[in-house]
Amino acid sequence: MSIVVYGAGYVGLVAAACFAEVGHDVLAVDLSEERLKSLAAGRVPFVEPGLDALVARGVASGRLRFSGNPESAAAHGTIHMLAVGTPSATDGSTDESQLIAAAHAIGRGAQGDVIVVLKSTAPVGAAERVIDEVRHELSLRNSGFQAEVVVNPEFLRAGTSVKDFLEPDRVVVGGENQSAIATVASLYTPFTPAERIFRMDLASAALVKYAANAMLATRISFMNELANLAEQLGADIAEVQRGIGADPRIGSSYLQPGMGYGGSCLPKDVASLIAVGEAAGATMGVIRAAAEANSLQAHRITEKLERHLGDLAGRTIAVWGLAFKGGTDDLRDAPSHTLISDLVESGSSVRAYDPAAGEAARRLYADEGDVTIVPSLLAALEGADALAIAADWPEFRSLPLSDISRALGERLVVDGRNLFSPEDASAAGLTYAAVGRGEN
Ligand SMILES: NC(=O)c1ccc[n+]([C@@H]2O[C@H](COP(=O)([O-])OP(=O)(O)OC[C@H]3O[C@@H](n4cnc5c(N)ncnc54)[C@H](O)[C@@H]3O)[C@@H](O)[C@H]2O)c1
Repeated sequence: MSIVVYGAGYVGLVAAACFAEVGHDVLAVDLSEERLKSLAAGRVPFVEPGLDALVARGVASGRLRFSGNPESAAAHGTIHMLAVGTPSATDGSTDESQLIAAAHAIGRGAQGDVIVVLKSTAPVGAAERVIDEVRHELSLRNSGFQAEVVVNPEFLRAGTSVKDFLEPDRVVVGGENQSAIATVASLYTPFTPAERIFRMDLASAALVKYAANAMLATRISFMNELANLAEQLGADIAEVQRGIGADPRIGSSYLQPGMGYGGSCLPKDVASLIAVGEAAGATMGVIRAAAEANSLQAHRITEKLERHLGDLAGRTIAVWGLAFKGGTDDLRDAPSHTLISDLVESGSSVRAYDPAAGEAARRLYADEGDVTIVPSLLAALEGADALAIAADWPEFRSLPLSDISRALGERLVVDGRNLFSPEDASAAGLTYAAVGRGEN
């Protein structure tokens, strides 16, 4: 099938490359010159394991091509998949302008009937607004072409997105037109059995995505709150996690306490769900509490540093991990921002390292004189009084704890990701403040 994917970002490029891999003719279109330049040079413009090889194979086969012009790209196919950004507006609701701009281009450029597939995360009602825009533009041209819309939310996770796309837990396809639903469902049959492709109405399909992210956010906030309580009570959150995770009604994933959720999805999707709920007259008390707990969690790292070191003015703090989690270079809404802002505000200097996000972080903190982005774990520790860990990269465990201890002036590690055992850290001479366990 001929597919146009609008937005060659973390979601769109993965989808485009995976559909090309199974034989479809895919044109991925983006407006970012930087991303297009990188793709033209054969480089994936962000870090995503396995994606380089997949994109290279797609391009070599001729089944994956790129364009910088949405309107002319719209002539390419029947399936028009929207994977553009849906950021938060200032009031927390979803800014749908990128969706509408892409819909406009489809309506102006399509050369036949179209099925518009909403893969971007967008609230209930956005699909109708998108297809109205497409139909309006088609009618202005007196084209006579038919346009249908299907909501097909994406559940992939940054860092494992290729695997998640090729082996999805489930695929959700929502719509009103059964033939359009069947066509979109058929795209996924190489990846998953038919019974894992859930067909539903438009509103339910849109709400599934928000419900999934709100549930994950709530679990994270719940565990963070319990971890904070465990610190007060002298309990070990790792044991609590083990104890409840074995219950099949609860399950063990997303029970890891830390610095709070971040990234390009959970914060904005939670805010959007709250805004949608409020507009519909719903209280949204549970998810609102989860968001509030999350907004406090990353500040706790600086509070712990202050508890051990006193006034942080003039101190040097090493920070390991800047991306919102290990395995990605995505800095969007990363808890490390809160940590670094707190540290700078307290008057300390920051030496930060991230295995993948260093370059992007250098640009982000270019005007921040007290923040130096360094190229290695050890370089971050040079001249530092203490270490704060803000993302969970496996590489962080590669340095012996005794080396960390020797390098730090105050031999203090505040670990926002619980990477080490408190006993090992203490044996290496470190004061080790983790989340919900050990000393604090
Ligand atoms: N990143 C994730 O892990 C993830 C997971 C599930 C769902 N989502 C959702 O998928 C959507 C995309 O997320 P992302 O992380 O890939 O975003 P992204 O910012 O990485 O990519 C979006 C791309 O769309 C391009 N774009 C904007 N307007 C365009 C237009 N009119 N035509 C063509 N391209 C255009 C931008 O230049 C950008 O490169 C969002 O709605 C997001 O909530 C993201």
